[in-house]
Amino acid sequence: MIFRTFVAVALFSATLVSANAASLKRFVDPCEGGKAAFEKTVYAKIKTDCAECHAPGGRGPTFVLADTAAAYMRVKNYVDFVDLSRSVLGIRAGNNHCLKENCNEASGKEMKTLLQAWWDGGESSCKTVGKYFTAAITAPSDLPVYLPEKVDAWKRIEWDLSAIRDDLAGTKFSVEAQVYSPGTDAAPAAYRFRKPRMHQGFDPIRIAGVRILVNGKFDRLANAYESIDTVTAPQEVAGGGILEFPVLTSQPLLLLQEKKAGDMFSVAFDELTIVDRPKCKEAGMFKEKVLPILAKADCASCHTTAGTATLPAARASFAMELTDDQLCSAFIQRTNHTSPLRSVVIEMPARGKLGHPIVITEPAAYLDVLQTWMSAEGYLFSKDVTN
Ligand code: HEC
Ligand code: HEC
Repeated sequence: MIFRTFVAVALFSATLVSANAASLKRFVDPCEGGKAAFEKTVYAKIKTDCAECHAPGGRGPTFVLADTAAAYMRVKNYVDFVDLSRSVLGIRAGNNHCLKENCNEASGKEMKTLLQAWWDGGESSCKTVGKYFTAAITAPSDLPVYLPEKVDAWKRIEWDLSAIRDDLAGTKFSVEAQVYSPGTDAAPAAYRFRKPRMHQGFDPIRIAGVRILVNGKFDRLANAYESIDTVTAPQEVAGGGILEFPVLTSQPLLLLQEKKAGDMFSVAFDELTIVDRPKCKEAGMFKEKVLPILAKADCASCHTTAGTATLPAARASFAMELTDDQLCSAFIQRTNHTSPLRSVVIEMPARGKLGHPIVITEPAAYLDVLQTWMSAEGYLFSKDVTN
């Protein structure tokens, strides 16, 4: 089986040129105004009232950090600026959970006033780049380098989502990374990411609006994952064992390097909620129209234990020994409802993205059937999935 090599992303240098020329502010930073207001309000209080248990090594989750930028990102996970009274930080500051006056009713009231002052004093003028933020991790110094040799090697990097919320403990968000170009006089150095996905978790997750930040900044041009909007669930596998989640998109993402060493990567999400496993409404149509095409293409020859010996990655990333209903759910998680043609189940087996063998011999018919089924399913995520 011949695998197509990953094709370099065209337009990369053209994009850079136009970005430099643009007057629009390209990078969104952690928001200096919001951070300055945070330091004067909420940060001052948590340093005195909450550090005992919420500084590193304390009994509670860590959010009182000496690095104010890191503390700012961490604390924002507990704040809902849309409705401050819903903020976990304000509720906790006044619910007596610490059995001290540090978090009695008066403390709760004070926290609510400070949250409002944080918002009014600067946060309200920040451009939002997401609602939930991972901790920042240092770019590994041993990332494989693609250019000039065109080496197709990647290294997985991952963020532990327990920094965001307790119910996400154990779940990780990962991407594969490489240094796309070490940089030349003409073009700056850049990282390339692919295969964003959850892994190691046990619960289905509604995920939307993914942005990878370099040193806390979001590059508006590096927005390939911003449109992710789906429910993603750990695979169901007979006998258990594999907990890999579906790949969220087959698109690559290029990000400029800021420092020669020590760039920090973090991830912002608009939505990250535990929900029910998605179920197909149109499983009947899926069985009747889609399954025969999959049988003809013999997906199972690689995507079941039968193919494991030669191509272990196929079953590890998509185990297809499933009931028809389970397979329908697995398929729907690999579709893209905003741009159907960008669905992973189209781009990989029909177009050879991410080095997948092209196994669909009649792509037009496949696209037609899939689009009919997808539109019958409707946009299931925002409407029908509740937590
Ligand atoms: C004496 C220790 C102690 C102090 C002081 C303390 N906490 Fe906590 N806090 C904990 C522990 C332990 C937990 C984790 C167990 C739990 O959820 O109650 C926790 C959990 C939390 C959580 C996480 C809730 C979640 O759902 O993930 C928040 C937010 C919080 N505390 C806020 C505060 C704030 C704000 C203050 C200061 C005004 C404070 N705490 C002071 C011990 C403390
Ligand atoms: C000749 C072997 C082979 C056949 C046949 C095959 N695949 Fe794959 N498939 C692979 C391999 C290998 C991977 C893992 C690629 C990777 O991620 O590096 C994969 C990965 C995938 C993924 C990504 C899964 C994820 O979430 O990461 C999808 C989707 C997929 N295949 C769909 C299909 C469909 C649909 C068919 C049938 C129409 C099919 N494949 C047939 C080898 C095969």
